Amino acid sequence: MAKLGVNIDHVATLRQARREIDPNPVKAAKIAVRNGADSIVCHLREDRRHIQDDDVVRIRKVVRKPLNLEMAIDPQIIRIALKVRPDYAMFVPERREEVTTEGGLDVVKHFQRVKRAAKRLSDKGIKVSVFIDPKVSQVQRAKDAGARIVELHTGGYANARTVSSRARHLQQIKKAAVFARGLGLTVHAGHGLKYHNARAVARIKEIDELNIGHAIISEAVFSGLAAAVRRMKDIVA
Ligand code: PXP
Repeated sequence: MAKLGVNIDHVATLRQARREIDPNPVKAAKIAVRNGADSIVCHLREDRRHIQDDDVVRIRKVVRKPLNLEMAIDPQIIRIALKVRPDYAMFVPERREEVTTEGGLDVVKHFQRVKRAAKRLSDKGIKVSVFIDPKVSQVQRAKDAGARIVELHTGGYANARTVSSRARHLQQIKKAAVFARGLGLTVHAGHGLKYHNARAVARIKEIDELNIGHAIISEAVFSGLAAAVRRMKDIVA
């Protein structure tokens, strides 16, 4: 089975809704690690809609598990990554108007940009990961560009509406994972995975780690809500 990277972006989404100090994503990262997370993932977006620069610095300082920093290939964000030195820098495509990352980075199209950015980070000892659609052509170009890790986009699988479409997407993920491993790459996968559909991906033996965020943070709201209400009731009643 696979390792689990916990993406804590949406703890910060909740905090930014009020621009307060709670809930603190650094505390969330610590709790995730205490409960089995193998790595912490966060996305420092250009628009800073959830994770802030200081969160990344603090997570890097206090969390004793690998930090996987998701980022666009943007000069300012690359400068921050070079300073913070996460264990992994994961390149993703980013559009300001999107609600979440919409697809894999097209490494075939953006090969030279990916290669240049990968070199800058690799030269400082940061392992470069590229988030791509599960296609052999993308895996090959990610390897050629200097990536050590590919994260395979599982959104197509997670959003599939029929059993046959889901099976087809799973097969594509498996094929890309086998190809990537054959090239000596480490394989991660993620996006859109939920409690009911993560296991089938985790069972693909070539996949080393799944990165999951929204489902875990959503579940945490309801796992914790009853106790949170009771605690406040005790105070005011
Ligand atoms: N992997 C990548 C590259 C992502 O962009 C995201 C979302 O930030 C995730 C994994 C986690 O996706 P989800 O929040 O749907 O579990």
